[in-house]
Amino acid sequence: MGKDVCFSRAERADLDAVCGIEKRSFGAEGFSRRQLLYLMTRASGFFYVARHNGTVVAYLSLLLTERARHLRIYSIAVGPEARGAGIGAGLMELARQCALERGVASISLEVKSTNREAIRLYERAGFVKKKLLPAYYPDQTDAYRMHCPL
Ligand SMILES: CC(C)(COP(=O)(O)OP(=O)(O)OC[C@H]1O[C@@H](n2cnc3c(N)ncnc32)[C@H](O)[C@@H]1OP(=O)(O)O)[C@@H](O)C(=O)NCCC(=O)NCCS
Repeated sequence: MGKDVCFSRAERADLDAVCGIEKRSFGAEGFSRRQLLYLMTRASGFFYVARHNGTVVAYLSLLLTERARHLRIYSIAVGPEARGAGIGAGLMELARQCALERGVASISLEVKSTNREAIRLYERAGFVKKKLLPAYYPDQTDAYRMHCPL
């Protein structure tokens, strides 16, 4: 997939594709269309998509917090058909560049303690587990809060 993938800020026209990725990645636990539109257009942060041959196959939502001193990876998903090709790693690198360009001190995220693929992706990108958050998610699953110093 490598060379045919490009990353860019999302546009309003990408919303349908992003909703589809969300549904196929998180099912009923995913964000609603309205929440995704908010994250894309109004939230304090950045929303990126990855395109493969022009088709949106992944997204990354970043939030800028604490007076812009801190970047949070709010959500990341790669469509099931596009996984295992390095797109997740590419999005993590994008988050890192975004943080460095803005001079923020660190990046953080929360992840289900059971999501081994995501935790592996984050650890490869330099994140470390900082805290266990018991019953953090609506289904009572624990989360890890992970940090990446810059
Ligand atoms: C976690 C996620 C973003 C990773 O994205 P990705 O594009 O598959 O990530 P990469 O290709 O960069 O790396 C995936 C790893 O799995 C391997 N892999 C191989 N085939 C794979 C496949 N069919 N599916 C998934 N991973 C595969 C990759 O080689 C890589 O292995 P490595 O760690 O040994 O190098 C993706 O699985 C996803 O969207 N999951 C559902 C949503 C989710 O859980 N998001 C995180 C919420 S906190």
